[in-house]
Amino acid sequence: MTPDTIYITDVAPRDGLQNQAVHLSTEAKLDLIEHLVQAGVNSVEATSFVSPKAVPQMADAGDLIGRVQTRWPQLRSSVLVPNLKGLERAHAAGAQEIAVVLCASETMNRKNINMGLDAALDVCEQTLAQAHALGLRTRAYVAVAFDCPFEGETPLAAVLHLAARMVEARAGEIVIADTIGSAAPLQVKQRLSALRDVVPSDRLAVHLHDTRGLGAANAWAALEAGVRRFDSSVGGIGGCPFAPGAAGNLATEDLVLMAQRCGLTSDISLDALLDAVDFAEAQLQKPLGGRASAWLRRERAKRREAL
Ligand code: COA
Ligand code: ZN
Repeated sequence: MTPDTIYITDVAPRDGLQNQAVHLSTEAKLDLIEHLVQAGVNSVEATSFVSPKAVPQMADAGDLIGRVQTRWPQLRSSVLVPNLKGLERAHAAGAQEIAVVLCASETMNRKNINMGLDAALDVCEQTLAQAHALGLRTRAYVAVAFDCPFEGETPLAAVLHLAARMVEARAGEIVIADTIGSAAPLQVKQRLSALRDVVPSDRLAVHLHDTRGLGAANAWAALEAGVRRFDSSVGGIGGCPFAPGAAGNLATEDLVLMAQRCGLTSDISLDALLDAVDFAEAQLQKPLGGRASAWLRRERAKRREAL
């Protein structure tokens, strides 16, 4: 990890699509990933192995991940698994990297995976141990790490404790998630600075939502706290169906533009990313994009006129 590079996992294929009214076909999901790869994205969260009754949009997880691994063997393609059954399914389908989810409040775990915090912690630790035994790479989300939609502000001590447990469980990345997009920059800087004392900096990542328009500001605060690993979603699509008030993710194009303007590199082409936004927009049949895409489109039109 170098301090002038940011490492982005685009979570649009999972976080982005899990909550959409329009359900994309497997082919369309693969086309979306193709656009991301063309733009230089080298890590995606491809899908989730959850109950298809809970999230029908992810029912094709096995077929999808098999095809992703075959088509882009160099691409890091993580898949979310809520329990050992999810891990079993993911492994059978050929997944190489999994992510577990630990919500930092009792109620949010119950809403999300139908078990309390202690049981969820147990399941995450078991799932990580089993994944490591199978030789898989791992990530661990600490979700609702700022506020829980049911319990209010999440105590920092709880977040630090759970993050430390995930470090002990040898999760390759510990992803601190502002699941409902309620965080503010000062709080992001304070919490992530505190987390750097318990999580090695090359394993600390942040997952932001843009519900209140503070996604990019929060990303800047995370950068100031020394974080270089980010989840974001092309076009800003995203949101958790089980967390009321969760809106879209921080848009990848907003994050990349900010990073570029601040002297950080990511290997991602903004122009090619715009093609991915256009594609997702056509598929989901609604206007998408974070704050940057309107300006990026105007710039592109000017360049084309000048040719
Ligand atoms: N994948 C597919 N099916 C699964 C599964 C998995 N990972 N885990 C459990 N199931 C199935 C069981 O086999 C059982 O099936 P059956 O009704 O046909 O017998 C059914 O789901 C219920 O199993 P149970 O263990 O009682 O689970 P539950 O009803 O308590 O639900 C989850 C637990 C985790 C499966 C469910 O809450 C879920 O999938 N949540 C989705 C969470 C999510 O995607 N959140 C957004 C991202 S953070
Ligand atoms: Zn999210």
